[in-house]
Amino acid sequence: MHYLDNSATTKPYKAVIETVSWMFEHTYANPASLHGLGFQAEQTAEDARKKLADELHAKPSEIIFTSGGTEANNLAIHGVVNRYQNRGKHIITSTIEHDSVYEVFQKLEQEGFAVTYLSVDENGMISLEELQASLTNETILVSVMHVNNEMGAVQPIAEIGHLLTGYPKVFFHVDAVQSFTKIPIDVQTMKIDLLSVSAHKFHGPKGIGALYLRKNKQIAPLLIGGGQEMGIRSGTLAVPLIAGMAKALEITIAKRESFLQNTHIWKTELLTSLTSLKRIRINGEKGVPYILNFSCVGLKSEVLVRALEDETVFVSSKSACSSKKESPSRVLLAMGRKRSEAISGIRISMGMLTTATDISHCQKALQNVIPTLQQWIKV
Ligand SMILES: Cc1ncc(COP(=O)(O)O)c(C=O)c1O
Repeated sequence: MHYLDNSATTKPYKAVIETVSWMFEHTYANPASLHGLGFQAEQTAEDARKKLADELHAKPSEIIFTSGGTEANNLAIHGVVNRYQNRGKHIITSTIEHDSVYEVFQKLEQEGFAVTYLSVDENGMISLEELQASLTNETILVSVMHVNNEMGAVQPIAEIGHLLTGYPKVFFHVDAVQSFTKIPIDVQTMKIDLLSVSAHKFHGPKGIGALYLRKNKQIAPLLIGGGQEMGIRSGTLAVPLIAGMAKALEITIAKRESFLQNTHIWKTELLTSLTSLKRIRINGEKGVPYILNFSCVGLKSEVLVRALEDETVFVSSKSACSSKKESPSRVLLAMGRKRSEAISGIRISMGMLTTATDISHCQKALQNVIPTLQQWIKV
C-alpha cells in the first residue's frame, strides 16, 4: 500500500501508539487530582506543553490544549469576536482557508459581522496590499492560514505579522495545522497572537491539538466548566493523547530536515512525470514540497482517486472534510481555475513515513492510469 494522503491524516508512529497505550494503562489519573497519580499526569501534560511551546518559541503558559485543529480554530475566532465585538465588527480572512475557519467566518457574516475574504492569485497567494487596504478602525481579527491543505501555498505570515503591528487592536490568528513541525515557526518574530495545531497531521493521535495564545491577550472561552487551561478551555485534559502528541512532535522535528530534502526531490520527480502527460494542469507548484496538486482536465477527481486506489496508491481529491461533497474545489476556483479544472483536482501529500518506493510506485500508477482513462472517456 502506498499512502499519499498525509494532509488528510497521518499514520501514528509506533512510538506514539506505545506512549498513548502506556499512558492509558498507567497514567490515567486526572491531572487536576491532588494525589500523586494526579501529579504524575499533570507533570506529563506540562512536559508536553513545554515541548510545544519550545517549538513555537513561546512560553508553556501560552499553550492551550484542544481536541484538534477545528476546535483550536473555532476557539481562536469565536474567542476574539465574542470578547471584542464592542471594539469593532470587521474581520478578515482569505478565500482559501480550511472549512473550520471559512465556515465560521460565513456564520459570523450571517450574524452581522462585516467580513473581508482576501483573494488569492493563480499561485494561491494573498496580497499584502489587499490586506492593508482592507484594514479599518473596526477590524478586530485577521485569520490567514500558513500552508494551504489542498495545494500547499505558503502565505507570507511574518510579513502579515509585521504589517499588523501597526494595528494593535487587531488579533492575528494563523491556522498552522499543515505546517507545524514541518516548517519552523517562531511566534515572536512572526508576530502571531493565536496559532492552531493538530497532532494527527504529524503522526500523532487524532483528537488532540493546541492553540497558542499570546501572553496578556485575552479571549472568551468556548467551553465553560471546570476552569482548566486557565479557564479558556474547560474539560479534563486528555493526558495520554497529549503525551502522544509530544512524542510525535519530538520524532517529526528530528526528521524534518531530511523530510524537506526528500520531498523536494520527490515532488520534482512527480511533476516531471505529470507534465509528460496530456491535459494536466499543476496547481500551486511553488508551495511546500510535501503537497502536490494537479488537475487532470476532463477526468473527475473521484474517478482518478478510485483508479489509483486499484493500483494501491491512496491520494485524495480535495480537503478530506469536503472530499465527499460532489462540488468543485473552492480553493482551486479561488485561484482562478475553470470549473472543469476545479472538479478534477488531485492532491498527493507526503509524510514522514513516505518512501522513495511510494513515489516511484505512484509515478508508474499515474503513467498507467491517466492515459488509459483518458482513452476510455475520450477527453
Ligand atoms: C488547514 C487545516 N486546518 C484545520 C484542520 C482541522 O484539523 P482537525 O482535523 O484536527 O480538526 C485541517 C484538517 O484537515 C486542516 O488541514
